[in-house]
Amino acid sequence: MREEIHIPLEVLTGEVANASAPAPRETRAAKELYSSAETFAASESRIFQPAGAQRRTFFLETFGCQMNEHDSEKVAGVLLARGYKQVETPEAANLILYNTCSIREKAAQKVFSRLGVYRDALGQANGVQQKIGVLGCVAQQEGEAIFSRAPWVSLVCGSASYRNLPQMLARLEAGEERVTGLDKDTDETFETDVTRRDNPWRAYITIIEGCDKSCAYCVVPFTRGPERSRDSARVLAELRGLARSGYTEVQFLGQTVNSYADPSPRKMRFSELLLEAAQVPGIRRVRFTTSHPRDFTPDIVEAIDAHQSLCNHVHLPVQSGSSRVLRAMQRTYSREAYLEKVAMIRSARRKIAVTTDIIVGFPGETETEFEQTLSLLDEVKYEGVFAFMYSPRPNTPATSMPDAIPEGEKSRRLAVLLERQRAIQVEALGKLEGELFEVHVDGKSKKEGQWYGHTSCNRVANFGSTATDILGHYVPVRVAGCTPNSLLGVHAARF
Ligand code: SAH
Ligand code: SF4
Ligand code: F3S
Repeated sequence: MREEIHIPLEVLTGEVANASAPAPRETRAAKELYSSAETFAASESRIFQPAGAQRRTFFLETFGCQMNEHDSEKVAGVLLARGYKQVETPEAANLILYNTCSIREKAAQKVFSRLGVYRDALGQANGVQQKIGVLGCVAQQEGEAIFSRAPWVSLVCGSASYRNLPQMLARLEAGEERVTGLDKDTDETFETDVTRRDNPWRAYITIIEGCDKSCAYCVVPFTRGPERSRDSARVLAELRGLARSGYTEVQFLGQTVNSYADPSPRKMRFSELLLEAAQVPGIRRVRFTTSHPRDFTPDIVEAIDAHQSLCNHVHLPVQSGSSRVLRAMQRTYSREAYLEKVAMIRSARRKIAVTTDIIVGFPGETETEFEQTLSLLDEVKYEGVFAFMYSPRPNTPATSMPDAIPEGEKSRRLAVLLERQRAIQVEALGKLEGELFEVHVDGKSKKEGQWYGHTSCNRVANFGSTATDILGHYVPVRVAGCTPNSLLGVHAARF
């Protein structure tokens, strides 16, 4: 049983690289890179020989949520601005960087298996020494202990210290063996002049960093520092710049994106920021994730109703359907309060898709409490669910809570939950036959005349079209069927 499964019509959240929920996952690219790292370890030609005057190179692999992906785009921007060149394999790199995730134990362990690959491969080079850096949430959580566990690592840097990257890089380049950036308490955000964006049409914009909530199971407040929002004028300036350079779809990011609190005198509310963003010329879609139920207010729904460019999708993690478990999790809302938020969203004039995250097997979760989560699924009928088995994390209060649920029981609950949700989704998708969706085209499949893209409500649509050049365009697609994971359709003549 996989520890984490994205069932949202995996689909709903899409070509998972651009999933709307910041749920950690291993991308195909990451898997390919992993095999190249293995090949590297097995290879006899481990010695990297850069010529003296050659440009420095870096390799960067990212784990974890969309905030991490976007941080990596900014880190890459800092390196490119410094004259580095990005390479596709670790063996070609002077600087090998891993941007890590610590949300569940398996995610955190992945990076140590990556680092293990270099136990013998580094430190034996002629010419310029290769260096390895650990960035992100495992870096912040483990700190200098990473040097003891993997002494061949030279840089350990958490996300709250990225603004100091240029100085840290200068120290590494000057030959320092151990450089750390482990700020815990900062009121600054990470601003870059250059961001190397992965997707040519859809761009991420972080609007709030860190997290001040203290969910009992979660490492994020420890790994990403306190909540700090970016100045609304800065966010909008970045957005206008993106629109000028051809981006039509943007996604506002934050662990609790709707807790946004504009630090500038304008004191823009989150919903006002959304409306301003939706009106930027050239911008056709604005998404945002992840919303915390406590701060999800009616004005956000009103904004979505008021402006078509605001995507009709809300990712609203519930975690459990039992008010007792929610209290133990310190989620700050009850089942009833959460259901009221959903009712508010469902009462909008536009049909808004709602997706969620759920943890099964939280310490002390009884069978009855688990069944309450199942009944919540029946009640809400989510368009997509990311479900996880509870994983104890360092420093978090839940780790020392009594009545841990055995692993076998956790996986049973996960399987039951996913099956229930699958049935709900298949039924809901079946009803969409004949409907027309606007699809932002992300790619062309290998099969001739087949394309794929996302709807505003973040469903993946695979469709046939005789058009030749629709990448990045918005096209009408008539639904003709579905898989458990996506809509199937055809390019329609008009909306
Ligand atoms: N900031 C977001 C989610 C952050 S992490 C929010 O507040 O909803 C993404 C998801 O990982 C969480 O919603 C939760 O479902 C899951 N998660 C977090 N910590 C976990 C843990 N210790 N074990 C299992 N799942 C966890
Ligand atoms: Fe973690 Fe809770 Fe913060 Fe989300 S709101 S990042 S689950 S502490
Ligand atoms: Fe994201 Fe993982 Fe850190 S989910 S915030 S990269 S712990």
